[in-house]
Amino acid sequence: MNVLGVNAVFHDPAAALVVDGEVVAAAEEERFSRRKHGKSPVPFATWELPEQAAAWCLAAAGLTPADLDAVAYSYDPALAPPRGSDLSADGWEGLRTLYAERAPLFLRTALPGLDPAGVRFVPHHVAHAASAALAAPYPTSSVLVLDGRGEARSHLAGRCVDGDLEVLAAQELPHSLGLLYEEVTEHLGFRRSSDEYKVMALASYGEPTWLAEFRELVAATGDGGFRVEPIEWASLVKPVAETEEWTPDHANLAATVQVRLEELLLDLAGWLHAQTGDRAVTLAGGVALNCVANSRLAREGPFDSVWVQPAAGDAGTALGAALYVAHAGGDRCTPMGTAALGRGWDDAEIEAWLQTAAVRYERPRDVAHTVAEVLAGNGIVAWFQGRSEYGPRALGHRSLLAHPGYPANLERLNNVKGREQFRPVAPMVLADRAAEIFTDGPIPSPYMLFTHRVRPGWGERIPAVVHVDGTARIQTVDRSEEPLVARMLAGFERRTGLPVVVNTSLNTAGRPMVDDPRDALECFGSAPVDLLAIGPFVVRRPVRTG
Ligand SMILES: [Fe+2]
Repeated sequence: MNVLGVNAVFHDPAAALVVDGEVVAAAEEERFSRRKHGKSPVPFATWELPEQAAAWCLAAAGLTPADLDAVAYSYDPALAPPRGSDLSADGWEGLRTLYAERAPLFLRTALPGLDPAGVRFVPHHVAHAASAALAAPYPTSSVLVLDGRGEARSHLAGRCVDGDLEVLAAQELPHSLGLLYEEVTEHLGFRRSSDEYKVMALASYGEPTWLAEFRELVAATGDGGFRVEPIEWASLVKPVAETEEWTPDHANLAATVQVRLEELLLDLAGWLHAQTGDRAVTLAGGVALNCVANSRLAREGPFDSVWVQPAAGDAGTALGAALYVAHAGGDRCTPMGTAALGRGWDDAEIEAWLQTAAVRYERPRDVAHTVAEVLAGNGIVAWFQGRSEYGPRALGHRSLLAHPGYPANLERLNNVKGREQFRPVAPMVLADRAAEIFTDGPIPSPYMLFTHRVRPGWGERIPAVVHVDGTARIQTVDRSEEPLVARMLAGFERRTGLPVVVNTSLNTAGRPMVDDPRDALECFGSAPVDLLAIGPFVVRRPVRTG
């Protein structure tokens, strides 16, 4: 079966193509449109589809819309709140439902030749659950989904056996851990549905001073679900205005919500494990991008393995919906082996882009060695290799790399990216060396969705990647799965003794990650980066930036 998955309703519109149970392409619309998160998360934008991402997925597989056996849309308007009720309290819920109902017609317009009768509505949290359980490397797993909201729920706890999903619990709105986190994000002066990871970073600077109150306000209900009482945020600490800095009280509030989230996640996982007795749990939903909470679950929770789908936010529901429909149609789904499911270019195409840009470039004998040399000399490298990543993390395909040994490189990278100085940058490390340097978290950790503690003696050697609380959000690199990145890391270790480099996403503030060669050249042209390593080619900046 050829199944196209589509996420469009809230934010992070994305498309994924599953052919005979195997995911062959997946991409977020923002990488094409260059509009961060693809669109505004407002009901009157519900009709907007991941048009370019969907068209690319089909073209990448040599298919036309008429070749599709089904289109899986990750929201079921039949489950939406009844007309007249308005969950969002902004008067637009009915329009969201109407647009979702009409999605087959919008899809036919966007992808001429598509049969609107082939569109299947997949419940939002089922799509999230399938994006984890059907993509994970386990035949049997428990699955836990937590996000802001779907149709009328914010959570799903279930079990997946050989691709068949059984739902064991689901929490109805308005109770929502994702919306709780969005609220505190907004209160702390960040952008809702976008900047939640900044709250997680800020939490490390505070203490959970309101934990007793939050244990009353946010609690598990003993049946697999939970309740979240309305919270008067301003009575705790005043909101951060756009031009203001955060205070220790704001960091304490971030820490309180973060710790309570972790505790509740442990509660919910405990309930789920008591039902299933499974060894592995898979996670999805926006809350599963909280790598600090994921690590606590891995460390203290009842499951031996915790696997998080790299596009755990709504973008990933495109993949999940497609896998779900493929499985329902009789296809056997193959676990995803990589997040590198987006666009890629061959050497000749990249060289044509470089010639068009009229920049001076070289083709070194081994680009990995050239990059290792520049990094060892404390240069910053824009690394553009292979297919782009599905999900919010740069995993060695669209990355900005630097030497981890200089503490100033954190500030330098945050300046390159034009972002807040409290934000950490993360290390990539050879998988077979990771346990020597990092502890207290799952290894391997190929998708950067857990934090680890840095072992004694290493913090001083790699200060740029150690967060204020002594942790690091690592990406482990397997030599057989990512040979080029591994060769670069090995080359860097030969020169410096460190099997670790700083890895952050290749973009500048407010912009989506670089996706195509032109984005890479634009980013390189405007940011103080010493070397662009693009395919087998390198472009050097004539003047050193450091
Ligand atoms: Fe969601």
